[in-house]
Amino acid sequence: MTGVLLITGGASGIGAETARRAAKRGYKVAINYRTRDAQAMGVAADIAAQDGEAVALPGDIASETDIVRLFDETERLFGPVTHLVNSAGISRQMRVEAYDGAVLANLFAVNVVGLMLCCREAAKRMSARNGGAGGAIVNVSSMAATLGGRPGSSAYAATKGAVDSFTKAFAREVAAEAIRVNSIRPGMVMSEMTEKRLQEEAFRNRIEASIPMRRVGETHEIAEAILWLLSAEASFITGAMLDAAGGGYIL
Ligand SMILES: NC(=O)c1ccc[n+]([C@@H]2O[C@H](COP(=O)([O-])OP(=O)(O)OC[C@H]3O[C@@H](n4cnc5c(N)ncnc54)[C@H](OP(=O)(O)O)[C@@H]3O)[C@@H](O)[C@H]2O)c1
Repeated sequence: MTGVLLITGGASGIGAETARRAAKRGYKVAINYRTRDAQAMGVAADIAAQDGEAVALPGDIASETDIVRLFDETERLFGPVTHLVNSAGISRQMRVEAYDGAVLANLFAVNVVGLMLCCREAAKRMSARNGGAGGAIVNVSSMAATLGGRPGSSAYAATKGAVDSFTKAFAREVAAEAIRVNSIRPGMVMSEMTEKRLQEEAFRNRIEASIPMRRVGETHEIAEAILWLLSAEASFITGAMLDAAGGGYIL
């Protein structure tokens, strides 16, 4: 079943690659972005040039008002959201002694609270209990949720741990209402989030030595796994965490 897919943080990295590939499979794609207007419009234009349907929609996932508007706007253009990928996320590297309350609050506002509110809006529209047609959701977590991440990642890892716990509970809550909810846990993937650090040769060598496959991932390798989780081929899978990480990492 394809349908109406909303991707948060869809202008770059994993979200953008998922948008491009989803459109080729027939989804109508709403690409949410925060600051990357040109990138988001570019992805939507590329999709339209290949006879796909896509729209770029601004919205800050840290804002409840923006989230509600995003779902309403998508519905107005394409009909109710049937598929959701929560890819918007931010990463902060800092040791615990360097924590700052406002920075932590923002990290959780985007990576956790915003994602949960997007799931609320999706559930309202998808739930068979509310007359919806069902649907599927993929939350983009991280391998950091498993071992706590690499040094300096404690706060980020905590947000992704919360994503996984929420995903399991939410999946069970709506499992009988035709909604599947899963999370994907990418390992280190080359994207706008990581490319600056990965351009440092010493850093990249250290990272690759810690990955059993001895390489970082590419965004398409995550996008394909997300699309599979969204698809009817994964019809009996809910509440699962899928590691897409080249075998994980050894610290
Ligand atoms: N790359 C990796 O190694 C890796 C590994 C594990 C998990 N992940 C997760 O994968 C997801 C996608 O990351 P990526 O690697 O594709 O990096 P990315 O290219 O930086 O993508 C993240 C996107 O989220 C958007 N975003 C951030 N805050 C937002 C907000 N408040 N509202 C709306 N959009 C917002 C960013 O746009 P703006 O810049 O405009 O804010 C950006 O387009 C994230 O959740 C990340 O934690 C990535």
